Amino acid sequence: MTDVIVVGSGVAGLSAALSAAETGARVTVITKASLTLTATDRAQGGMAAMTSSLPDGQPKDSVQLHVQDTLVAGAGLCEPPVVQGVVQDSADAVRDLTDRGVAFDRVAGPGSPWVQGLEAAHSVSRILHAGGDATGHAIQEALSARTRDAAAVGDIRLMEYTLVTGVLTDGQHAIGVTIRPVLSDGQLGAEEFLAADHVVLATGGAGQLYPYTTNPEVATGDGIALALRAGAEVRDLEFFQFHPTALAAPGSFLISEAVRGEGAVLRDQHGHRFMTDVDPRAELAPRDVVARAVFAVRTGSPNGAVYLDCSTIPVPEGLSRAEFLARRFPTIDASLKAHGIDWSTELVPVSPAAHYHMGGIVTDELGHTTVAGLWAAGECSSTGMHGANRLASNSLLEAAIFGRRIGELVAESTPTSDPWSASHRTEREPRELPRPHPDAAGPFSREALQHAMWQGTGVFRTVEGLEQAKARLGGWLSAASSSWDVTEAPDTLADIEDQNLLTVGHALVTAALSRTESRGAHQRADFPATDPRQAVSTRWVAATAAVP
Ligand code: SIN
Repeated sequence: MTDVIVVGSGVAGLSAALSAAETGARVTVITKASLTLTATDRAQGGMAAMTSSLPDGQPKDSVQLHVQDTLVAGAGLCEPPVVQGVVQDSADAVRDLTDRGVAFDRVAGPGSPWVQGLEAAHSVSRILHAGGDATGHAIQEALSARTRDAAAVGDIRLMEYTLVTGVLTDGQHAIGVTIRPVLSDGQLGAEEFLAADHVVLATGGAGQLYPYTTNPEVATGDGIALALRAGAEVRDLEFFQFHPTALAAPGSFLISEAVRGEGAVLRDQHGHRFMTDVDPRAELAPRDVVARAVFAVRTGSPNGAVYLDCSTIPVPEGLSRAEFLARRFPTIDASLKAHGIDWSTELVPVSPAAHYHMGGIVTDELGHTTVAGLWAAGECSSTGMHGANRLASNSLLEAAIFGRRIGELVAESTPTSDPWSASHRTEREPRELPRPHPDAAGPFSREALQHAMWQGTGVFRTVEGLEQAKARLGGWLSAASSSWDVTEAPDTLADIEDQNLLTVGHALVTAALSRTESRGAHQRADFPATDPRQAVSTRWVAATAAVP
């Protein structure tokens, strides 16, 4: 019988765990917080999927159209066969999730067609949602309930509040992980080793690299840092997507693109609808285009304000605007009300915020990383689906599909029987990440790190800003690694998360410096053009004497 450790409990991790358990593997799910504290739980817009039940009058969708939209958004760096495979499997992913208890919204009760929303850069309305704007929450609740059921009968071992501090290999394959319990005061308990035939990294993103993010506090790049230390390749770390419309207020949160899909528009401080000057698709241009325009208007105007105007949303007969918004977007409605904003009559101030890391641990189309027995899925992975800029609502889809693929495969493979597919080694060899330089970086704090990342690797980047960020992060990382070498391992969760953020941030800056062009979410003010010769992924491994 195979032993599988799944690290992370969002849609990717729990899909992998449930599928593996169904095929008879002994599965352990490990998460550093509670089972439901995940980015999946926060996803609003929905899940892009090919389904046969289009409402009357909608233009017809097709696999080819969804593939095409994904490739266009990905700006030349998607892997077309991977995109094709994911889109083709999307109907199965919807069926799996509904079988596991997710109730996607329907037009009129059981058996009627799914409600399908429109989001930026999609040619047709194809976004399924649940609970209006609580799609991720509905998925998280359903998968968590199934996982707890499986744990209750011994099919899954569940370890919440447990931090994975390392993936161990025997030089060739993953052989297990080291773990430390997370105590209620954030201190860490004693380290233990847990053996496994397979380790699946599904730890989510790294939004905590930035001061403004839609990600939860657990999004600290843990999976990428663990993979680098285990010797796995990572790819395209420079591509970090900024969502154009987070609430511009303390305690900011996401205002879904689906709101613009329903007809909301963006206005500057004079009430001018500036997106029509920028792109013929206006507010529904790809996310990177809208984020840059919002950023430029905010930094170019004296009061720095951009507003979302919801008075342009058509409202179905018989409902007031306030009723429609509360019904269609209950989560956003409640959050805006808590901030004292009545969005049925008032403009909503918005700003870009770090949202999704396209770069990650390289996998093939089955989820193998370049280390045998180590797998990756969800935001910490780079499967080839998203390229330089993820199409809205493709991430829940990709995570569910790769989670399931991995779960089904691990049960029947040994780490050596089904290795990383050699056909993926077509590009040049990965480069070694540079060792961090012991520059004087000033005192370290999470806020200082986030500020350096926002200044250097935010919506627009320049060589000067990137070099400055690299020097600061390199200085901190070098100081942290030397103290870790000579003293004991850090004692708090926050210390290890900071190490992970520094490792990922330093690698991200390095990758961003190496890409001397603008493409997708990576915009260099000093290299504004896209360079066709750079239409290849950047691939990296840790320097031989591992990054800490
Ligand atoms: C949104 O609801 O705007 C976010 C959807 C996504 O990131 O895919």
